[in-house]
Amino acid sequence: MTPAPTTRQQRPPAEHLYADELARLKKSDRDPKPPGWQLSMKAVRRFIIGDKDLRAKIVCAPSLIERAMVTLASNRALLLVGEPGTAKSLLSELLAASICGSSLLTIQGSAATTEDQIKYGWNYALLLAEGPSPRALVPSALYRAMQGGHIVRFEEITRCPAEVQDGLLSILSERLLMVPELPGDNAVFAAPGFNLIATANTRDRGVNEMSAALKRRFSFETVFPIADYDQELALVQSEVARLLANDGLKIQPAAEVLEVLVTTFRELRQGVDREGAASERLSTVVSTAEAVSVGYSVALRGHYLRGDTGQPRTLWKPGGRCRQRQPRRHEKDTPLHRKQSRQTPG
Ligand SMILES: Nc1ncnc2c1ncn2[C@@H]1O[C@H](COP(=O)(O)OP(=O)(O)OP(=O)(O)O)[C@@H](O)[C@H]1O
Ligand SMILES: [Mg+2]
Repeated sequence: MTPAPTTRQQRPPAEHLYADELARLKKSDRDPKPPGWQLSMKAVRRFIIGDKDLRAKIVCAPSLIERAMVTLASNRALLLVGEPGTAKSLLSELLAASICGSSLLTIQGSAATTEDQIKYGWNYALLLAEGPSPRALVPSALYRAMQGGHIVRFEEITRCPAEVQDGLLSILSERLLMVPELPGDNAVFAAPGFNLIATANTRDRGVNEMSAALKRRFSFETVFPIADYDQELALVQSEVARLLANDGLKIQPAAEVLEVLVTTFRELRQGVDREGAASERLSTVVSTAEAVSVGYSVALRGHYLRGDTGQPRTLWKPGGRCRQRQPRRHEKDTPLHRKQSRQTPG
């Protein structure tokens, strides 16, 4: 596991944030572990989806976690695909942190990603002074994951040019990385426990389509937005509260603001208007992650500028009227509707 930080961090990685939980799980884990894993599959599942003693870290079907773990214990890599803001990166971080103790071996895919960033580069001063040597080699996150038997995360893989993505082909099938520049011992063999979790967002599909050969080396898992209103509201509430607590603010986000936010975002995402009829689908994304970040901003504005914990009015244009919305058919039993019904006689 990566050493615990000595200074406060704005966003600690999962292995630091949940270090105590992971240590307790490791201590009590008696179930069989796949080769190279620090926890058993049962313990990883408990850590991610929680139980009566552990807080759930993600809202998703337990079967998704089970399929993801089985893939990672096999000879295929895992590709998490889905709409933006559906917790693909969060899931890959939690899996890496619990399986190998570190989520920091990460490659960030972009149009500028090069093969060096995926495999290895060189320290040019040493390369010129000594020629190619292990000392002059700068290993990538993938190289280190292969050596140490860890999980490497490849974020937004489809944002990389296809020819760069294809650098993964032989690594994923032969589990071997050749360094032809080095004399003699120039092959890195993947240690037990090594595997790769990639994420790709469906809005980017087509930016750089994956080759069929690379697709065959992955098991695809789709991560869907949260289906249940109450679960999404509870998640947004707890995430906003966690962000505020991380800032040292002992305030709770205003429940009414979050109810309006979650309801409106779901409506826009689902393309259903006030009367339940289909409306034009938005070109921008209104994900759960966006709802968390807007809810957090409203609470910060309320706390620092207005002296409250935020008001629904903040969500409308300045000067605009905050109209009381009518509940849709599928929302008749939400907390917002129950509150409105109590407030509106008749
Ligand atoms: N199902 C969920 N369970 C838990 N948290 C969620 C869920 N969906 C969204 N979130 C919230 O969204 C945040 C961001 O999610 P994340 O960055 O992992 O999404 P993503 O799918 O990787 O998005 P992108 O495609 O934009 O990279 C999480 O930290 C969490 O607060
Ligand atoms: Mg992501």
